[in-house]
Amino acid sequence: MVENITIREATENDIQKVIEVNLIALPEHYTQDFWLDHLRAWGKAFLVAEVDNKVVGYVMCRVESGIGFLRRGLIKLGHVVSIAVLPEYRRKGIGRRIMEESIKRLKEYYNVSEIYLEVRVSNVPAINLYEKLGFRKVKTIKYYYLDGEDAFVMAKTL
Ligand code: ACO
Ligand code: ZN
Repeated sequence: MVENITIREATENDIQKVIEVNLIALPEHYTQDFWLDHLRAWGKAFLVAEVDNKVVGYVMCRVESGIGFLRRGLIKLGHVVSIAVLPEYRRKGIGRRIMEESIKRLKEYYNVSEIYLEVRVSNVPAINLYEKLGFRKVKTIKYYYLDGEDAFVMAKTL
């Protein structure tokens, strides 16, 4: 058990560390401006997990207006753009905690009524995590990723 996990809002000083975690954990990478733009716009739902003052995980979200996958009509949607935990810190509940906290904050600060995300159809750990949190698969997007893999869109109402 990792005892001293802190979940907190990311700051601009964390972005380099967040980018390093992303480079290690995922094939989907973004420019520094992309990370900073999300932090400045939706910082209440951009979280980092720290262990011994070291960033070991993050979740970055965005808020959009659109038609829900589960709710009818024009609504505010929370979009989980990217989440990752460093390999050696996985399976300790960190991913679940940062997701739960970002979901809570998307509702509290941005009044979103539905949350969605895309995930590789082969990404069993992430799909299991999202299903545990009440997300369900609402559609498949063929060839969503650059290497040709399909994505599931998963969504959850709040
Ligand atoms: N195999 C099966 N189920 C898993 C696995 C696994 N390897 N890892 C997590 N889960 C499921 C389990 O149900 C687990 O609960 P349990 O441990 O009680 O069985 C539940 O998820 C919660 O696990 P956590 O420990 O909270 O998750 P973790 O901190 O390991 O983070 C994450 C999960 C973020 C998916 C991590 O594996 C990771 O960083 N993967 C690489 C990056 C990635 O794939 N990110 C998601 C891409 S999609 C997107 O960003 C929108
Ligand atoms: Zn997305």
